[in-house]
Amino acid sequence: MSEQHQSVVAIEAVDFHFGQKKIYTNVTIQIPSHGVSVIMGPSGCGKSTLLNLISGRYKPDRGKVRVLGCEVNTLRENDLFQLRRRMGMMFQSSALLTDLSVFENVAFPLRENTDLPEPLIRNLVLMKLEQVGLRGAQDHSPSELSGGMARRVALARATAMDPDLLLFDEPFTGLDPISLGIITKLVREITDALRTTSIVVTHDVEEGLSIADHVFLLGRGTLLASGTPQELLDSNQPEVRQFLHGLPDGPVPFHYPANDYRGQILEHS
Ligand SMILES: Nc1ncnc2c1ncn2[C@@H]1O[C@H](COP(=O)(O)OP(=O)(O)OP(=O)(O)O)[C@@H](O)[C@H]1O
Ligand SMILES: [Mg+2]
Repeated sequence: MSEQHQSVVAIEAVDFHFGQKKIYTNVTIQIPSHGVSVIMGPSGCGKSTLLNLISGRYKPDRGKVRVLGCEVNTLRENDLFQLRRRMGMMFQSSALLTDLSVFENVAFPLRENTDLPEPLIRNLVLMKLEQVGLRGAQDHSPSELSGGMARRVALARATAMDPDLLLFDEPFTGLDPISLGIITKLVREITDALRTTSIVVTHDVEEGLSIADHVFLLGRGTLLASGTPQELLDSNQPEVRQFLHGLPDGPVPFHYPANDYRGQILEHS
């Protein structure tokens, strides 16, 4: 098997910054082909930024980002567009088009990217909606949907083109327990049914570990650990233990850096 096929996404020695703030320093991550890879890490560590590097929205300062065999940063606009057609994305906000019905939201990528005849589009959309249990809601407008239903429609839309790579940004956040269970199950089922690769970005440890085949833990601008969920749970690395077990203090200190407390109190007394 060629190297290209072993990893669907290869982040190689990447540096990235926003203004003065370094987000990544020399980060290397190989996302294996097929299954669910979960990227975890504390808020603000750069998880969404990583998805933006993968989709080519951001360019690294140094290093390479290879996706589905293409080096993203060197692609011409048209080639990047072609590559993005092979990726499905679901954002935390669901980002449904509010003027379009549920049906038209799912049909949107098909109408934009293909010349498929209307009856075929109809069948594909109904199949995708059936997969997420919302065929009956096809005529609803997004404003009529609950948060959990909107997330499911966004999932159906992300899979409309049968993508080779699915990217999910915080798919579990803000859902009630039942919707959470449904989304978790659907991400797993759809990844397996489409025999595709899903990258799920989350800070939700329980859900993340429950669906992951591979886990990548980010922090301090680098990859702290990777492995199967069990390997991470068994890890003795203090940072891994602190994050997975939700310990309030550890390598990531409870206190934001400050000058001496006693000194500061006495200063004004
Ligand atoms: N466009 C931007 N310009 C400047 N700084 C940014 C920009 N986008 C993100 N940041 C900063 O970069 C850091 C990483 O952001 P990112 O959104 O990737 O984190 P995250 O891990 O997804 O966080 P969360 O779990 O809260 O979603 C954060 O400190 C954020 O404030
Ligand atoms: Mg984020």
